[in-house]
Amino acid sequence: MSVDSRLNTDILYQPLSLRAMELANRIAVAPMTRTSAEPDGRVTDEMVRYYERFAEGGFALLITEGTYPDEAWSQGYLNQPGIANDEQAQSWRPVVERVHAAGARIVMQLMHAGAQTQGNRFKTDTVGPSALASKGEQLGIYRGSGPFPTPRAMFPEEIREVIALFARAAERARDAGFDGVEVHGANGYLLDQFLTDYMNVRTDAYGGSTENRVRLIAEVCAAVRRAVGPDFVVGVRVSQAKVSDYEHKWAGREEDARIIFETLGRTGVDYIHTTEHHASEPAWEGGRPLAHYAKRFGGVPVMANGGLGSPGIAVRLLQSGDADLVSIGKSALANRAWPRHVRAQQPLQNFDPQLLQPLANVKGVEL
Ligand SMILES: Cc1cc2nc3c(=O)[nH]c(=O)nc-3n(C[C@H](O)[C@H](O)[C@H](O)COP(=O)(O)O)c2cc1C
Repeated sequence: MSVDSRLNTDILYQPLSLRAMELANRIAVAPMTRTSAEPDGRVTDEMVRYYERFAEGGFALLITEGTYPDEAWSQGYLNQPGIANDEQAQSWRPVVERVHAAGARIVMQLMHAGAQTQGNRFKTDTVGPSALASKGEQLGIYRGSGPFPTPRAMFPEEIREVIALFARAAERARDAGFDGVEVHGANGYLLDQFLTDYMNVRTDAYGGSTENRVRLIAEVCAAVRRAVGPDFVVGVRVSQAKVSDYEHKWAGREEDARIIFETLGRTGVDYIHTTEHHASEPAWEGGRPLAHYAKRFGGVPVMANGGLGSPGIAVRLLQSGDADLVSIGKSALANRAWPRHVRAQQPLQNFDPQLLQPLANVKGVEL
């Protein structure tokens, strides 16, 4: 893919501060699960190098792959890294140090897989808002096969424990040197299961109306903010689509968006990260991009994701004012120095899906 030489990309390279975190540009690496950790969830040398290369390539911000916060039901994939104990936390230190040395910032994504788990060495059963299985099939690129199991509905005291374990994991991430954490409220994992009408048929304060269904994500964000103190970045990621349901849309559309983003924006988060298949396209027929609603209702900076590896689309989205920064997934895998290449108007490589076959893990040749 060649970069149009008439495209003025300056807006991508303007600095931005999120709380105390100063970013050299508006380009982040999207969180990407690579299932390349030790079986016990510790980070490997290969992963250190994998992250360092993005920082060297000019990304101002890296968001880690989804990382599990406890030693119970949160792990989603075998060989997923964790932040559930001190050994795992220590193992992240070299990643943080090398990324910082290369001039970038790094935020850890905290992810509880809930009913969408397909590999957890701590438990054989799964939990979710209600005893309803995620749609679709487990992902082969993450060593899964067949349908998702039906989870057990969580007890109220387990909901309180989930809130507390996110907060503890965030403290561990802060103490390991991270610049922030991102609460994974998207893509069909536990927090998004609570938000999703067909996954959540609870009759308590966490089910029913959109206000009730977004409550858990909001309470997790607020608890994380309280735990880490005022100077550490806290973000939250939200989506309509899921790993297990590619086409899902919020039934209440703009009204749901208003409730969700207003609620999350009031929790003390420093940014909202929206992800759609195509970030600049309408979130639903006749609507505006999802990032637009996050910006309008959330009152905090917005990071947009989805199909923004094409520089022209990323530039136009920032120019529209719907987002303050962009995150790039697959195109970053194909172009570890995407920000430097685009700045220099050098051609970009197309993403080759073979990179994630037969498994989505980091392969030696990528380094
Ligand atoms: C291999 C792979 C792993 C991913 N893992 C995660 C993850 O751990 N957490 C997350 O929020 N999104 C994850 N995603 C979704 C990406 O962050 C991003 O939303 C998606 O790739 C669309 O952006 P893109 O068009 O720039 O690739 C993953 C995507 C890919 C390709």
